[in-house]
Amino acid sequence: MGSIMPPIESAEREARSPLAAATDQREQPSGRLIVGNCVDIMRQWRDGAIQLTVTSPPYDQLRDYQGYDFPFEAIADELYRVTADGGVVVWVVGDRIKSGRSLTSFRQALYFQEIGFSAHDVMIYQKKNTPFMRSNAYTNAYEMMFVMSKGKPATFNPLKEPTQRHGYEMLPHNKLPDGVNKKTLKELKREKTRTNIWSYAVGLGGTTSDRIAFQHPAVFPERLALDHILSWSNEDDLVLDPMCGSGTTGKMALLNGRRFIGIDISADYVAIARQRLADCGLDFAVDDGS
Ligand SMILES: C[S@@+](CC[C@H](N)C(=O)[O-])C[C@H]1O[C@@H](n2cnc3c(N)ncnc32)[C@H](O)[C@@H]1O
Repeated sequence: MGSIMPPIESAEREARSPLAAATDQREQPSGRLIVGNCVDIMRQWRDGAIQLTVTSPPYDQLRDYQGYDFPFEAIADELYRVTADGGVVVWVVGDRIKSGRSLTSFRQALYFQEIGFSAHDVMIYQKKNTPFMRSNAYTNAYEMMFVMSKGKPATFNPLKEPTQRHGYEMLPHNKLPDGVNKKTLKELKREKTRTNIWSYAVGLGGTTSDRIAFQHPAVFPERLALDHILSWSNEDDLVLDPMCGSGTTGKMALLNGRRFIGIDISADYVAIARQRLADCGLDFAVDDGS
């Protein structure tokens, strides 16, 4: 597990850009759940305050959310501004499939790139079980996970998985100009860095075992949030979910030593998130906008 940069203490992080801090009178966001439109809320925050965002937007009006308002470009612009240099935004998104795919996910990714993010990776969230069928196409079993970074990611803690085979084996190495295929005894490693296709079971017991979460119509798997949090942040970093729904990112961030700030436009969803956090012993402040 190697992080390119060591964890930065909060105070040190604030001091990193003293000029910006002196001239930017906006608020340094602190861990809480907030009811509101994420654009309005993020506009109150200082530049570069967030190390990692793990979020999933409403997809092409696929679900009926309460108080729905989705100004994508304004959200992306604010995300860029509030992301720290070296920070990462993980944008988990699918397309509406009606008579063909909407390709909204790609348009959004291109917009992120236009405004300055680097498309650090395009990952796949594969669903192990999916009931969705199409009569004239293969069953859709994935969503995109766009990993957008502001400059080079400051943190990468690669997740590992066991290799199929390990131990010592005679392995061929590059042929020299004489064309002879030489073999030498080499060790096959016990583990390797994962690929960028991540598979999760979905539904109760897969996505989460928290029944209350399913009062929200579109929860993503806890493990997905956790895997990104471990990969792109360190302990004490501030993790954001600007459309936090049932609070999945928050639960996994807080249980793993990160700070968390979550926003949702729906007071009902924020109430679900708060209860879900409370159920794991996390008593978390809620700013209900009143
Ligand atoms: C796909 S869901 C997120 C689900 C979440 N990842 C989870 O695991 O529960 C998208 C959320 O975006 C919220 N939303 C839509 N527009 C918003 C906005 N402008 N500001 C804040 N939240 C918004 C919706 O209320 C909805 O809960």
